[in-house]
Amino acid sequence: MEQQKHYGHFDDQHREYVITDPQTPWPWINYLGNEDFFSLISNTAGGYSFYKDAKFRRITRYRYNNVPMDNGGRYFYIKDGDTVWNPGWKPCKTPLDFYECRHGMSYTRITGRKNGVEASVLFFVPLKKWAEVQKLTLKNDSKEVKHLKLFSFEEWCLWNAATDMENFQRNFSTGEVEIESNINPQTANLKSATIYHKTEYRERRNHYAFYHVNTPIQGYDTDRETFVGLYNEFANPDAVMEGKPRNSHAHGWSPIASHYIEVTLQPGESKDLVFLLGYIENEQEEKFEAPQVINKKKAHALIAELDTTEKVDKAFNELCLYWDALLNIYKVKTGNDKLDRMVNIWNQYQCMVTFNFSRSASFFESGVGRGMGFRDSNQDLVGFVHQIPPRARQRIIDIASTQFPDGGCYHQYQPLTKRGNNDIGGGFNDDPCWLIFGTVAYIKETGDFSILDEMVPFDNQPGTEVTLFDHLKISMDHVIKNLGPHMLPLIGRADWNDCLNLNCFSWDPNESFQTTENVSEGTKAESLMIAGLFVVTGKDYVALCKQIGKTDEAARMQEAIDAMIEAVKKHGWDGEWYLRAYDFYGRKIGSNECEEAKIFIESQGWCTMAEIGAEEGMVAKSLDSCKKYLECEHGMVLNNPAFTKYIYEYGEISSYPEGYKENAGIFCHNNPWVIIGECIAGRGNDAWSHYAKILPSYVEEKYQTLHKVEPYVNCQMVAGKDAFRPGEGKNSWLTGTAAWMWYTVSEFILGIKPDYDGIRIDPCLPETAGDYTVQRKFREAEYEITIHPNGAQKGVKSITLDGQPIEGTVIPYSTGKHVVEVVM
Ligand code: BGC
Ligand code: NOJ
Repeated sequence: MEQQKHYGHFDDQHREYVITDPQTPWPWINYLGNEDFFSLISNTAGGYSFYKDAKFRRITRYRYNNVPMDNGGRYFYIKDGDTVWNPGWKPCKTPLDFYECRHGMSYTRITGRKNGVEASVLFFVPLKKWAEVQKLTLKNDSKEVKHLKLFSFEEWCLWNAATDMENFQRNFSTGEVEIESNINPQTANLKSATIYHKTEYRERRNHYAFYHVNTPIQGYDTDRETFVGLYNEFANPDAVMEGKPRNSHAHGWSPIASHYIEVTLQPGESKDLVFLLGYIENEQEEKFEAPQVINKKKAHALIAELDTTEKVDKAFNELCLYWDALLNIYKVKTGNDKLDRMVNIWNQYQCMVTFNFSRSASFFESGVGRGMGFRDSNQDLVGFVHQIPPRARQRIIDIASTQFPDGGCYHQYQPLTKRGNNDIGGGFNDDPCWLIFGTVAYIKETGDFSILDEMVPFDNQPGTEVTLFDHLKISMDHVIKNLGPHMLPLIGRADWNDCLNLNCFSWDPNESFQTTENVSEGTKAESLMIAGLFVVTGKDYVALCKQIGKTDEAARMQEAIDAMIEAVKKHGWDGEWYLRAYDFYGRKIGSNECEEAKIFIESQGWCTMAEIGAEEGMVAKSLDSCKKYLECEHGMVLNNPAFTKYIYEYGEISSYPEGYKENAGIFCHNNPWVIIGECIAGRGNDAWSHYAKILPSYVEEKYQTLHKVEPYVNCQMVAGKDAFRPGEGKNSWLTGTAAWMWYTVSEFILGIKPDYDGIRIDPCLPETAGDYTVQRKFREAEYEITIHPNGAQKGVKSITLDGQPIEGTVIPYSTGKHVVEVVM
């Protein structure tokens, strides 16, 4: 049998994924930065950087969907005699004697070796700094003296990533740079060199970027065509091939930054060079230090903080400690490495990345299309609220501030301005419910009820503030006030499934499925997904009201929930599973009566989580139907069978070919809903088998050639059983799957659930599970919880807290360290 090709492996001790072959089946990327300054970096050093907003403050240029793929990034060219090579293999693609890329927690280290020289680059964004550090270590392992010619390379983006790619009649005339180096006669004594990018700084921008190196240089380039040559490529820039910088000065066209440095290394000698890609904002009055000359004070200060190996190593160490602390909050030890590494490292890491980036910038999301999603960000919250509660708090306020007075909300907002995005607007009727989902998760984690009293505006309009609690209330009311003929929630433009556009009716390819409105007689389209979501979040809302003494409100909402449950039982059950929706005309969707797409996953997930009709056997039947009709080798598909033709009453969903995306792809995001449904029903074996199918480390083998995308994170979609290429993964990294996988494993499988008064213990496991221990920091306390499953799938028999038996399954919160033993 042919040996399966391997591109890398996990290194748990260092919390890294180690890529050993640069020609991965797709660029395998990592994210740098934790707060304001961010970078994407591929295993061959491709990618780009931005400040806060991938659309409005793009610092370096990137061309998506390029040929070759992943072209452009931070490149170091090393010319050693006649050989030119890069530590990350690309862009020259000179065969290397050794290559390795280690993607770690907010850093990436790429090492290449050629002809006795090793070049290792550590890339990271130091905490609280607006800069990417690139520490390059060059080492001569040969027996000869090496005279190396080193060229760095970055290409500037003209700030707005969208217009940068289209408005060339203007762009080619606006580019401006400044150069500060020992090459210029006035500054010949400088011991370092900085290239500044200041396009549009003369007018309305008060920000610029710079690319610095902490050593004198022997030349530079800032004009792309001069450096590369019009008929050359990144793989063979003129200047590099000739070994001669041009000292070019960009005026218009495409500004770049390239330092040229001659490095001599004795046998055995090594040298560190620190490159820094930084971003600066100045006050309006302090923009210039002389006419047309940018004020560089802040840049100099930032450079001074990171201009030696020692300073950079210290900053790197701080970053590592930061991640230690984050990953120390929830740690499991099951003895099963594949599970432990996902729970303790990669799943939590991906959650942090989705929190930071929402769905804006990945190698599938271009950073210009979407800002922060209302529903997405609320779901992302459950993935990281335990790590950084204060940022979760701020996020909740930001999100709620984009709500409308009637409880509806902007579907997206821009991170830079925090304003709702008018291009898409609102009208996605699931959105309001997610605010409850996020807020409840925050309060349970922190015990901070004060967030409910925060004054939060509508649509960011000053003077419109009401309490956050009132926002939650109108969110619930928005569902109740928008019920259809079956007393089920009206779907609006779409529910969680952005592609189920039951009020669109488009025959025009130039129209957006999401925003096109069928304005005829009035809609009857209703969603069972929202019905389930309303019951689940409604129960949370009722419990919250009771916690804060709002008993009347709790009772009012309980009535609405009961009515919804009745409506689902009466109008939402198809015999073997829950219906998905009613269309514009009131016809069933996701029913055995339908020709295609007879069953959908979303309503099975939400209605089983809501336990609607559990006593009548609906939950068990629905879960069985998921196994029977949705499950396949790679996970559960979204709907079955796939649509084979476009149904214009349904919108975007049926626009996808069979098995892809929302048309019967394995949309990993909603697999956990069914898994949680299984857990609530106590079916641990089934829960586990669904979970393991989409757990990256469990299917690492498949990732290497079939899934193709990064084996250390979940992707949004794996092609379903009806697809041309079942099992192919797409849209990696930025997906709600991260938070849902985390929520599922941490709270429902391993069973450690934060609650208002303490931690609820309620695992749901496969019969084969052995004993395991979870270390959980919770508010001001730390618990070491050991679970003895004894072959049970569900059901806690007894708990001791610090040796004393307790009643029930909630460990009451108290500060300090505690030991908990749980017998199932
Ligand atoms: C995608 C969805 C996505 C939506 C955003 C669609 O094309 O299939 O997954 O949510 O775009 O607008
Ligand atoms: C991706 C979007 O970001 C998310 O909001 C949506 O729920 C899913 N696609 C499903 O359409």
